[in-house]
Amino acid sequence: MAQTTLISRAQIFDRVHEMGAQISTDFSGTEMIMLCVLKGAVFFATDLARAMTLDVALDFIQVSSYGNQKYSSGVVTILKEPQLDMHGKAVLIVEDIIDSGLSMREVFRYIESRGASRVKTATFLDKPKSRKVPFQADYVGFSIEPQFVIGYGLDFAEKYRNIPEIQVLSE
Ligand code: IMP
Ligand code: MG
Repeated sequence: MAQTTLISRAQIFDRVHEMGAQISTDFSGTEMIMLCVLKGAVFFATDLARAMTLDVALDFIQVSSYGNQKYSSGVVTILKEPQLDMHGKAVLIVEDIIDSGLSMREVFRYIESRGASRVKTATFLDKPKSRKVPFQADYVGFSIEPQFVIGYGLDFAEKYRNIPEIQVLSE
């Protein structure tokens, strides 16, 4: 397996701070629940939260993942439900990467059904050319080509999450 840097630590730092400032402006004066999609988005969510000037409540959701494969099975189930009451709240769903769009579509629908008054989405990475269903995030860190990436929370078979930059994984 070869690993090459795609997005450096410095680029990640700068972009996450830009996003934090933008979201703080857009959500100014609202009570926000930041909903982190486990496990990949943990690294991005904690950096993003610290780049924001709002008071944020933090919650977690987990949906079925790819298992040990690089491609989605196309079936999304909720493995862990959020704990906080979302009624009348602004919820920012925070994801590591949007690929087929299936996971985000499912999480988005689910959170809307829990009575949130405003649901917005932030993803660190986006692979817009890989969509199987249409989905556009409100905040995107970086748009990338369809390729398998690791690091900054993103794994391959649970490995490489703690690499502090984004790398392309190739055979
Ligand atoms: P989607 O449902 O196909 O949009 O997939 C979203 C999820 O698949 C992400 O939250 C990741 O956990 C995983 N995923 C998609 N692409 C990659 C990748 O390039 N590297 C690591 N995980 C990925
Ligand atoms: Mg994920």
